[in-house]
Amino acid sequence: MTIKIDGKALADEIVQGVAEKVAAFKEKHQITPGLAVVLVGNDPASSVYVRNKVKRSEQAGLNSIEHYLPADVSQAELDALVDTLNKDDSVHGILVQLPLPAHLSDQRVIEAIAPAKDVDGFHPVSAGRLVTGQPALVPCTPLGCMIMLNRQCADLSGKHAVVIGRSNIVGKPMSSLLLQANCTVTIVHSRTKNIEAICKEADILVAAVGKPLFVKPDWVKEGAIVIDVGINAVEVDGKRKLVGDVDYEAIFPHASAITPVPGGVGPMTIACLMQNTLTAAEFQLA
Ligand code: GUN
Repeated sequence: MTIKIDGKALADEIVQGVAEKVAAFKEKHQITPGLAVVLVGNDPASSVYVRNKVKRSEQAGLNSIEHYLPADVSQAELDALVDTLNKDDSVHGILVQLPLPAHLSDQRVIEAIAPAKDVDGFHPVSAGRLVTGQPALVPCTPLGCMIMLNRQCADLSGKHAVVIGRSNIVGKPMSSLLLQANCTVTIVHSRTKNIEAICKEADILVAAVGKPLFVKPDWVKEGAIVIDVGINAVEVDGKRKLVGDVDYEAIFPHASAITPVPGGVGPMTIACLMQNTLTAAEFQLA
């Protein structure tokens, strides 16, 4: 019997747990952990993400601080806002929604955020801490994937994990986390030869390529755990629909457990952002 991994229910549980810890933190320090979210422009997908983050912050008992900047804001103005947030003691986590409009640099903003407040875990300092096995703020999506994997599998040690995709946001940090959990890790990408055969070897398959229905049923070993990070909007019979990087319906019978899209990795990402904000606040006040 295949298990459908319910990311929404698990995310609710995590946010509830964060809310309890936030209440204890407030009691101890007389401070409410604050998450600043910056949205530049009004891209519809980014606006939905930001709305969900604000809603979840409220459920977690965090102080949500929102900054909405016009699409034509200058790099200097954005840098100045990040600098102000870095220095503001009521802000414990800073998230600038990406991607930014083309005239602004994602990388420059990532590096401008104080590492202690880097709740996205995208700063080179955070990335370096993760790969060297030091306590780190870990990117939310891979962190959410690991929580789901740990729930499905008591011991990941020695399992062959194949990660499809090598982005800084998902593929690379995911590989580091799996390695830390003693998996044998293979990363496959657009230049990999024989990708199907490598995926077929995986006990754990994590798809983070951003290509709708990229992973086919004959790429999946019987009993594998399949984590689908993709969220792709496609048109089916003239209707807009969200699908993952994995052909869910076709692969379901072959997997031991699989995440749906939507309702899998997505809600976990936001729950982990709440967790990271609390972690950042605890570090800052320790
Ligand atoms: N855009 C899409 N996902 C993310 C994320 O996790 N963090 C930020 N900052 N921007 C995103």
